[in-house]
Amino acid sequence: MKNILVTGGAGFIGSNYINHILTERDDYNIINLDNLTYAGNLENLKPSENKKNYTFIKGNISNSELVNYIFNKYKIKYVINFAAESHVDRSILGSEIFYRTNVIGTNVLLEISRRNEIEKFVQISTDEVYGSLGREGLFTENTPISPNSPYSSSKAAADMMVLAFYHTYKMPVVITRCSNNYGPLQFPEKLIPLMIINALNNKRLPVYGDGMFVRDWIYVTDHNKAIDLVLDKGKIGEVYNIGASNEMPNIKIIKLILEYLKKSEDLIQYVKDRPGHDRRYAIDSSKIQDELAWKPCYSFETAIIETIEWYIQNKNWWGRIISGEYQNYYKLQYKI
Ligand code: NAD
Ligand code: DAU
Repeated sequence: MKNILVTGGAGFIGSNYINHILTERDDYNIINLDNLTYAGNLENLKPSENKKNYTFIKGNISNSELVNYIFNKYKIKYVINFAAESHVDRSILGSEIFYRTNVIGTNVLLEISRRNEIEKFVQISTDEVYGSLGREGLFTENTPISPNSPYSSSKAAADMMVLAFYHTYKMPVVITRCSNNYGPLQFPEKLIPLMIINALNNKRLPVYGDGMFVRDWIYVTDHNKAIDLVLDKGKIGEVYNIGASNEMPNIKIIKLILEYLKKSEDLIQYVKDRPGHDRRYAIDSSKIQDELAWKPCYSFETAIIETIEWYIQNKNWWGRIISGEYQNYYKLQYKI
């Protein structure tokens, strides 16, 4: 059995990771540590919650006493650190929690992992640490780190720390830097679920600036398969970019969603731009493709339609988020 501490496993990518991996691997024992911020939703883990090789622990990655206890009790040998404050707009409104969780929290995990001589620490980072691209070019692993938002600067700081632990202590760390994910279970503050849900509710679709900001979209399962490969075979001390070569301006996705839902483009509302808004992200993922034989399996054309359909079919899921009811699931399940 591989005893794996997955942090932030009640969020979008982490819950998709756990649900996916527990159907593929019965040699993984997953301990999910998540403090259930507004972005954590235990309902996401319904497919996994009764599995023998899955345990949920509500707690903060910055709590060293708790993290120490978990390492001892579950004999943790692997860490996948998804836990983060992840939304750029929120980081602009208030940055402190971003540095507390994304920097200090990661430091707690690293220190305790080091003392416990773990076999691998996978840090889930982001392409946003590279800053913004002009019209041409792609982010490679050698692109200088140049973050622009409080969110991306906190992720970049964590990356620097993770690499310092490799250089100083030879700790077995690997960093992944992925582009924008989409798919089921994404919190409806992010572009794609927000636009789908607003359109379904005939509400305005707020488009920042001129709508021509470019993101490079990847289906969440493709990202998670890459993470699992990195856990297994990623070379220690290395960084792997992950992306599906699917660049698109925001307005194109928004119009595609409206067209599929047969809603009028009159719902589009151009609003004030995000301060410091990065113009373009695009990933060169040839390193992970060449070294670990990973490649994306989902095409945007089909996976975006499946994603829109998922939000149509799961109105109760996002309805409970909008009403706030989703936060009761933990109390009901654990009878507290
Ligand atoms: P999310 O916001 O949906 O989920 C974050 C999870 O972390 C939540 O369950 C939350 O409760 C938990 N969490 C927050 N602070 C915590 C703390 N102090 N202790 C324990 N748990 C805590 O985020 P996501 O979109 O699933 O992103 C997961 C990771 O992937 C993040 O590290 C993010 O930087 C990175 N990433 C995200 C994307 C993307 O497009 N969403 C792309 C690349 C990288
Ligand atoms: O690139 C990876 C990153 O992608 C992750 O590290 C972050 O955790 C994740 O949140 C995401 O960051 P973005 O800022 O790119 O995602 P967001 O969905 O917030 O915005 C995508 C684009 O859409 C961006 O150009 C801003 C724009 N936007 C967003 C919202 C929420 C709008 O035009 N209107 C909106 O209402």
